[in-house]
Amino acid sequence: MFERLELITADTILSLMAAYRADPDPRKVDLGIGVYRNEHGETPVPAAVREAEAAVLARQTTKTYVGPAGNPGFNEAMARLALGAEHEALVSNRVRTIQCPGGCGALRLGAELIRYASADSVVHLSDPTWVNHVPLLSGSGLKLERYPYYDAASGGVRFAAMVAALEQLPPRAVVLLHASCHNPTGADLSQAEWRELLSLVKRRQLLPFIDMAYQGLGESLEADAFGLRLFAAELPELLYAVSCSKNFGLYRERTGALGVVCERAAQADAALSQLVRLARGLWSMPPDHGAAIVHGVLTDAALRARWLEELDGMRARIQGLRREVVRRLAEHCPGRDFGFIARHHGMFSLFGISTAQVRELRAQQHIYMVDDSRMNVAGLRRENLEYFARSVGAVLAGSAGR
Ligand code: LMR
Repeated sequence: MFERLELITADTILSLMAAYRADPDPRKVDLGIGVYRNEHGETPVPAAVREAEAAVLARQTTKTYVGPAGNPGFNEAMARLALGAEHEALVSNRVRTIQCPGGCGALRLGAELIRYASADSVVHLSDPTWVNHVPLLSGSGLKLERYPYYDAASGGVRFAAMVAALEQLPPRAVVLLHASCHNPTGADLSQAEWRELLSLVKRRQLLPFIDMAYQGLGESLEADAFGLRLFAAELPELLYAVSCSKNFGLYRERTGALGVVCERAAQADAALSQLVRLARGLWSMPPDHGAAIVHGVLTDAALRARWLEELDGMRARIQGLRREVVRRLAEHCPGRDFGFIARHHGMFSLFGISTAQVRELRAQQHIYMVDDSRMNVAGLRRENLEYFARSVGAVLAGSAGR
């Protein structure tokens, strides 16, 4: 059965992670995979997470199943974190949450629900979007299309073109939106743009599916969720996927959730029952460990405060790096304006150099960014900023390695 299978390479992000790990050069700089790094280049377990984890292990007396929708306390805490504790949709009891294996699990499960509810739905993705959105969403059998999003010339969003494209969509078309910290570009919608989009989505009766993988790493927990909170308050239906990989540093614990907002409680109950059925056919029941930790962090006042402080620290570091790298690049790359990097949010910016130049940086300077020039700003450090900016300057001047 398997003798005809072709050998394939992993997607661009995973291949890059492997190539970086295999590179013995001490100068190497990892701006590839989207994991937060501190000033020492490490991806630490936040102290609040560590403490909550110790408490989970100390009190855990069984590993029996938690249940098909996961940990109810985690689900409630995640809904409040994403939407805000007093959100109208929560008060009206029209939100249901199901714990999933990471934001990826949530995206896939949401796609399965859409496919079940309306088999010929098309999901419209931003151009560009995270590479893994494609297999995660199309794997359910849904068709995918693209809407214009990023303007490489300005480093901002092509909002007029985006609106013009979405205006053409038929009712019930699904629009996948990044809540904030757009992956891969770093360019987010402004609050005014979210408001304008809301009236379009209402008028055209589109279904938003909002991916929020980086809450708290852009501007603040609240500002990063602005669009999601606005849409959830104003629309009869939407789906959202949240991840605890980055803001809780729980990457390998695969911790996330899918939220479904419906018009009324009875519909939300029905949607959740379908989600449980679909999840049963995918992973049966979600893993517990990460969700139990997040539940512990979010429901203990002292741990929550400590986590918020650590999250603020991560965000401040990234924002500081953004300003600093713009300054260094201006010194080493005269004639090129990288100012947009300081206007971007979250870990990523689409750097805007050619694939050939990205590969030259990798081969000659051991600087790893994704082929489309997505860079993880958090991979920079005080001690490699100068090396990075000088190397980019050399590559842009066509003199690298000489
Ligand atoms: C990324 O975009 O690099 C991260 O979300 C990690 C991944 O799974 O691709």
